Amino acid sequence: KIVVLNYGNAYNQLITRTIRQLGVYSELHPHTVTAEEIKNMQAVGVILSGGSKEVDFGIDAGIFDLGIPVLGISSGAELIAKQFGGKTEVAKDEEVQEVNFTPASKLFSGLAAKHSVLMGKGNAVSELPSGFSAIATGPDGGSVAFANEEKHLYGILFHPEAPQTVEGKEILSQFVFAVCGAQKSWTMERFIDIEVEKIRSQVGDRKVLCALSGGVDSSVVATLIHRAIGDQLTCIFVDHGLLRKGEVESVVDTFSNKFHMNFIKVDARKRFLDKLKGVTDPEEKRKVIGNEFIYVFDEESAKLEGIDFLAQGTIYADIIESGTATDEVIKSHHNVGGLPEDMEFELIEPLKALFKDEVRAVGAELGLPADIVHRQPFPGPGLGVRVLGEITEEKLEIVREADWILRDEIAKAGLDREIWQYFAILPDIRSVGKRNEKRSYDHAIGIRAVHSVDGMTADWARIPWDVLETISTRITSEVDQVNRVVYDITAKPPGTIEWE
Ligand code: XMP
Repeated sequence: KIVVLNYGNAYNQLITRTIRQLGVYSELHPHTVTAEEIKNMQAVGVILSGGSKEVDFGIDAGIFDLGIPVLGISSGAELIAKQFGGKTEVAKDEEVQEVNFTPASKLFSGLAAKHSVLMGKGNAVSELPSGFSAIATGPDGGSVAFANEEKHLYGILFHPEAPQTVEGKEILSQFVFAVCGAQKSWTMERFIDIEVEKIRSQVGDRKVLCALSGGVDSSVVATLIHRAIGDQLTCIFVDHGLLRKGEVESVVDTFSNKFHMNFIKVDARKRFLDKLKGVTDPEEKRKVIGNEFIYVFDEESAKLEGIDFLAQGTIYADIIESGTATDEVIKSHHNVGGLPEDMEFELIEPLKALFKDEVRAVGAELGLPADIVHRQPFPGPGLGVRVLGEITEEKLEIVREADWILRDEIAKAGLDREIWQYFAILPDIRSVGKRNEKRSYDHAIGIRAVHSVDGMTADWARIPWDVLETISTRITSEVDQVNRVVYDITAKPPGTIEWE
């Protein structure tokens, strides 16, 4: 495995991701990891990633004595330089430059001599560290990369993981294979085999419970565990009545009819609606839905006997985020599947090392249908935060129908994999219109469609006007009580993706 130490740069996950795409397992760890720990991880290579201002650039210098190859990127290179008595200086801003590589260096062998790269935030090498030689130079002849090939230590001042660096992936590949001698062994089939074995030995003949939400992560977890232990797994699916059209059927069809799992569907629709009566504040709604989910799940699981484990769909992003996330709560994110505090279960989290696209690949490999594997992100509180103000069955029905038409037209236009997330909102605004020569006073529907990578920031999708026109025409003619459609053209920030 290749261990990436995190110094806070936004590109850092991309390094790990790129190395995994090369077929080698890689993990991101805090920069406070010790040499001893790296040795115990059986790392074959270490990458010191670029930094951000907030992180201090500490390192356990023992890492350089392990004999394990080290590649320092940007601020990571600065760290190596400092450690071996070199000097770097802040010269330029992050910018694309033409750089000359020394082909004799293992890091660049086989690559063309000249390439565009994205330089890091400026640190030029003014004095090479002792024992190191320059292996790449910038346009002004100054060195921008250095190496001590015997000790397998490399520093580069540009970002190989950035898309602007033309041959960046090849450079990482050179490091991983030529320098570290790593073997290609990371595939999703192999991941499944390894995890199935692990789950079997962890669980033995005991029983596991899983809360299915119909989302990608919990679906993949359930299917993976089912592959490992079959009927020792029981899934509870709470139908809170806040799912989109067709989703309950799809979940039942997949897990009960296709995979024949021990599958308990709890119809809690009325119970949730009753609890939500009169609740209009968005945070209050989220709280009510989150808590109610836990009560229902708790009650159902209490009816089961002899359960020792609870399966959770935690993925890599959840773990990285909880390690680095800021404290500021913009919206409380109650994940459906939230964990009751006093439950006495051991946790099973087989996806916690996976990126989202890897989770999807595992799902596809396990035979989950495309509508689940490629499901868009969906908030735990579901349509509850897409009907603004008080939630009623009637309003849910309106937003559900409008959303169904939107999804249908987006798919017909071939945009369903292109747009990251798209949905309908019922803003609880009525406006005047004219239908069949008569005055109407009906609901407006909001359309939201965004491009995003991780949901943290987003831009509104430029859906072609003729597609929008069809969507609007269909919604106003097919959905009762809707006489107006508006399109949300707000980025995040300042907006959020959901309206509540
Ligand atoms: P916002 O609205 O905060 O949403 O810009 C960012 C992403 O998160 C999803 N979202 C949630 N996901 N539980 C979830 O699991 C929640 O409570 C929740 N609220 C928002 C939202 O759909 C978008 O993809």
